[in-house]
Amino acid sequence: MLTIVGSGKVGGDAALFSALRKADESILLLDVVDGLPQGEAMDISHMLSEQGIDVEVRGSNNYADMVGSDVVVVVAGSGRKPGMTRMDLLKINAGIVRSVAENIKKYAPDSIIVPVTNPLDPMAYVTYQVSGFARDRVLGMGNMLDLSRFRQFIHEVVNYSRKSIRALVIGEHGEQMLPLPRFSSVSGIPLQDLLTAAEMDDLVSKTRGVAAKVIELKGATVHAPGNAISTIVESIMTNRRDVIPVSAYLDGEYGHSNVSIGVPAVVGRNGIEHIVELDLNEAERRVFDAGVQNVRSAISALPL
Ligand code: 2OP
Repeated sequence: MLTIVGSGKVGGDAALFSALRKADESILLLDVVDGLPQGEAMDISHMLSEQGIDVEVRGSNNYADMVGSDVVVVVAGSGRKPGMTRMDLLKINAGIVRSVAENIKKYAPDSIIVPVTNPLDPMAYVTYQVSGFARDRVLGMGNMLDLSRFRQFIHEVVNYSRKSIRALVIGEHGEQMLPLPRFSSVSGIPLQDLLTAAEMDDLVSKTRGVAAKVIELKGATVHAPGNAISTIVESIMTNRRDVIPVSAYLDGEYGHSNVSIGVPAVVGRNGIEHIVELDLNEAERRVFDAGVQNVRSAISALPL
């Protein structure tokens, strides 16, 4: 069973995409707002019915209903509004995420948690600490979304099928995110052979800034995060072992410990099966470390 805590637009889309992918046969939408998860579940079920997809979607306001969950996605909390950075949400969302993590610990102690609430990396850290789960069972969704944007920008420039494009983004899901042209390719051709340095710099800065642009235009980002969540859920539930950048608690990897940040990981039935360590060059390392620093100062501002 997949549980999604938070049934707003992103939670609803995560349920929708997970159902379309048949990532699990049973999906529970939870929310504190009476009626919202129930209505969302009905709307999705009507769509699935016409499509002939036998995934059962339910809505509830009761945490106890998450008993038996294999995966719990946490989207609860305030979203980013125009003009805000993800970090502006730190104090508002920390209390919400803490209480959700306590409930997961109580009702779904054997699950794998996918934190999504912003600021993503500090919230993944809070979830890890409060739940007391093994670190391979807490994997935050942030860079998977950044990667989808990087991939789109590469597609727009080279104009090859999106399927041929492999792109990677790691580090903070925030101001210091690290799109990696050196580890991205089109049909196996390194990106550096297809684009000039100036073109790659442009794609990197667009990838960093585009969420703010979407929020300015339509008020929120919805479909891309909903889909990115379902990619992670599907890789866990089907034990697909995709290499996906997720926010993981580091214990020496990339030279850091006691912090959660985006790194590539093999994602399968046990959550993080293995963290992949890339050989970053000096410039990449600088951005990665600056992201770690941002996350550390956010964490240190929180009561834990
Ligand atoms: C996003 O990148 C706001 O973190 C959210 O879409």
